[in-house]
Amino acid sequence: TVVVLDYGSQYTQLITRRVRELGVYAVLLPGDVDMKRITDLNPKVIILSGGPNSVHVEGAPTVPDTFFDHCESHSIPVLGICYGMQLIVQKLGGEVKSADKAEYGRMPVHTVNASSLYGNEGDSTSQMVWMSHGDEATKARSLPEGFECVGKSDAGAVVAIEDAKRKIFGLQYHPEVTHSERGKETLSHFLFTVAGVTAGWSMQNVLDEQLEIVRRKVGPDAHVICALSGGVDSAVAATLVHKAIGDRLHCCFVDNGLLRYKEQERVMTMFKEHLHLPVTCIDDSERLLGKLKGVTDPEKKRKTIGAAFIEVFKEYKQTVENKTGVRPTFLVQGTLYPDVIESCPPPGSDQKHSHTIKSHHNVGGLPKELGFELVEPLRMLFKDEVRKLGLIMDVPKAFISRHPFPGPGLAVRVLGDVCAEGALETIRAVDEIYINAIKDAGLYDQIWQAFAVFLPIKSVGVQGDQRTHSHVVGLRAITSSDGMTADWFQFEPKFLQEVSAKICNQVRNVNRVVYDITSKPPSTVEWE
Ligand code: XMP
Repeated sequence: TVVVLDYGSQYTQLITRRVRELGVYAVLLPGDVDMKRITDLNPKVIILSGGPNSVHVEGAPTVPDTFFDHCESHSIPVLGICYGMQLIVQKLGGEVKSADKAEYGRMPVHTVNASSLYGNEGDSTSQMVWMSHGDEATKARSLPEGFECVGKSDAGAVVAIEDAKRKIFGLQYHPEVTHSERGKETLSHFLFTVAGVTAGWSMQNVLDEQLEIVRRKVGPDAHVICALSGGVDSAVAATLVHKAIGDRLHCCFVDNGLLRYKEQERVMTMFKEHLHLPVTCIDDSERLLGKLKGVTDPEKKRKTIGAAFIEVFKEYKQTVENKTGVRPTFLVQGTLYPDVIESCPPPGSDQKHSHTIKSHHNVGGLPKELGFELVEPLRMLFKDEVRKLGLIMDVPKAFISRHPFPGPGLAVRVLGDVCAEGALETIRAVDEIYINAIKDAGLYDQIWQAFAVFLPIKSVGVQGDQRTHSHVVGLRAITSSDGMTADWFQFEPKFLQEVSAKICNQVRNVNRVVYDITSKPPSTVEWE
């Protein structure tokens, strides 16, 4: 195991992913954990991440007092990146200075001595790297005892240090980002040659290990249920559990009346014919739409949908119990690693007092009162790893690469009353045209999420020489890595022109199409 200690850099998760991509299992812990949490994992290597703080600031996060002694006595190699390197210098008695000039962005660095970290013999090589720091360990002579400077920037700042004997290394730049030309090579050399770890983490290992864990946890008799959302995570989690325990798994898929065009048919075919999952489709659309009629407040809509889902789920649980004669005691959830990681909060954030922007509803968020024990086979995986796991279980690629879809479905994409005449029907038709056009243009996989929005207003148009008074629809497409922040996607104007024409020609009721050019923040991804 490689332990990555998180000091709050925006790239910390990336370090963990890069290490895993190299075939070595890595876990992320908050930078200020106690030594026991670290030693319990018996790490072969420890990486200290970057972070936005300065080591000079009172209360800045740091390693436990016994950290370096422990690593030295157990021969655990340490690599500090950016803030992590400054921690090494400061903790081991060197001097960290505020740089006269902060260095941000891509810049060249050069090796200056024979180096164990780079595996070079002293010849000077250069590479472009990604730098983002204000402090630096400037002068080679103010490094801690035993350390040598092995890399410098153009401006002469120390950017790579090592104590090859104690196997402690520091990089001022970020080898984990792709902008650092030879970053991956350096990480690989550090792990395999310097630290001597062996690559053994592959998706097949993960699958075998998780199958065993699920079998052991559930035992030979218990029954398990799972609510499928139609998304990738719950489907991959259910497929894995089904492989482990067979038909003691019972899945439901709830059609709440807020699904996209032909979604129910499409996902049910996927679940039954391709994934061979035991799944019941529950049609709750009439009941839920009845409750939503006239509701226009976005939060009220979300809460109504969330509560209705819990009701349906409780009924399903009872149905399974009646059918099998056994009360299901386990619940499968597709929780991913980013939801599990305890990270160092970014400076200035007050996580305890964060405002609720939206009451999220998703099938993974069933309340604890239901009394289930959770089975979460994806808890240690990132989204891209879940996709790989799905692929080795023969989940079709087209399904694996689906865009996320929110739990409250089209209710947050029809502004105002979702039951307004023609609204759902219109938005389904528009969305289908839009998504198909994106797929035809080969852009689907470049986009994190794309969808259409129904606006409860009408505008005047002219179609076939006639004045029309019809609806406006919005199109949105974003790029993002986690949905937390997002940029709008820059289509070619010709693409938008063609989609707009197609929508107005094919969807009755629509005579105007607008494209959303707002990032998140200030907007959110969904319009409600
Ligand atoms: P927002 O609109 O909050 O969306 O910027 C961020 C991401 O979350 C999705 N989203 C939801 N997903 N239940 C979900 O499962 C919800 O209630 C929900 N609301 C938003 C949204 O589609 C985007 O990917």
